[in-house]
Amino acid sequence: MNCHTLVMSVEGCFLLITHYFIKRQSMGKINAIISGVGGYVPDYILTNEELSRMVDTSDEWIMTRVGIKERHILAEEGLGTSYMARKAAKQALKKTGADPDSIDAVLVATTTPDYKFPSTASVVIGKLGLKNAFAMDLSAACAGFMYAMDMAASMIKCGRCRRIIVIGADKMSSIADYTDRQTCVLFGDGAGAVIMEASEEEGVGAQDAFFRTDGKGLPFLHMKAGGSVCPPSHFTVSHRLHYIYQEGRTVFRYAVTSMGDDVLEVLKRNGLTNDDVDWVIPHEANYRIIEAVAKRVGLPMERIVVNIERYGNTSGATIPLAMWDHESQLKKGQNVIFTAFGAGFAHGASYYKWAYDGDKVAK
Ligand code: UT7
Repeated sequence: MNCHTLVMSVEGCFLLITHYFIKRQSMGKINAIISGVGGYVPDYILTNEELSRMVDTSDEWIMTRVGIKERHILAEEGLGTSYMARKAAKQALKKTGADPDSIDAVLVATTTPDYKFPSTASVVIGKLGLKNAFAMDLSAACAGFMYAMDMAASMIKCGRCRRIIVIGADKMSSIADYTDRQTCVLFGDGAGAVIMEASEEEGVGAQDAFFRTDGKGLPFLHMKAGGSVCPPSHFTVSHRLHYIYQEGRTVFRYAVTSMGDDVLEVLKRNGLTNDDVDWVIPHEANYRIIEAVAKRVGLPMERIVVNIERYGNTSGATIPLAMWDHESQLKKGQNVIFTAFGAGFAHGASYYKWAYDGDKVAK
């Protein structure tokens, strides 16, 4: 064997070993996929006409400024966010056929928990009778569900969990002031849930996320009382401090720039162009915000999933409810971008390769 042949065979061995390790790594790689979606909205529909009998507003103002026609309200006394969360989760379990005993965790993204403690997720676990799961709530306002999906994806990818129910649920009617026309027309109640699970299939599932919370949002969007800074008292109740406070115009501006730039960042990081994007599923606070984000990103509205007209802003539930409504049009391998913006200001965008043909799911 001459010197040249020796070098060639050493190089060959090296290439073979490298190839073996790369293959082993990719074979063992766990992806986190969304395997099914459930949703629930309460029966009672609060229309713009009814609202215009309660405050000084009109269907025309609400439709042209916000794009909402009606919203669902959980009107029955004694029912809270966990009631809707449980219904959505139960439907997701049924649709996927997942064994409830195989659920490792339940995450609930909500701004309107049943109680300050325990977590709404723990109430959901109790009601669903899950035996092998832990529960926690995630508080990031309207960005909560998108963040929770990424937390679940990370726990699955690192091998800690194999199957997680992620829920976005809010009873916004419990914190909306129905004497304040500037806020009460915007919100609705609802819940959406996804089952996220481990998959060894390549090229599907959670790909990337770019999240930021800039901490500048407090003055513009908050609830003044009820927390540890200003606990509930006769004063806070009589001064109506337990409701949503919002400076709409400022929030609007931040929402458009943040969501638009976050989507562009995720596209850039993943080498995607606008043409590669099949769907954007944004948080829905205002149709005009969504239109402005689409324009900033350079995408036609046909590729943006929107249902705000029927549900209003359901905070943590807007994204999963949009997935639920739109499921039949989501196809395996499609590039789906989520983006959200909420109090804090918490915002970001995430990128998923859809993992199943939505039109083949039994309703
Ligand atoms: O999901 C969490 C994040 N939240 C958001 O992203 C919401 C962001 N903000 C918005 O979507 C919009 O700012 C709103 C929908 C909240 C408000 O729309 P706007 O076009 O920014 O209206 P505005 O606050 O500038 O108010 C314009 C006018 C005012 O009257 P004057 O001062 O011009 O006479 C308001 O008093 O519209 C009046 N107005 C209403 N009129 C009829 C405000 N609310 C109403 C109403 N009906 N419901």
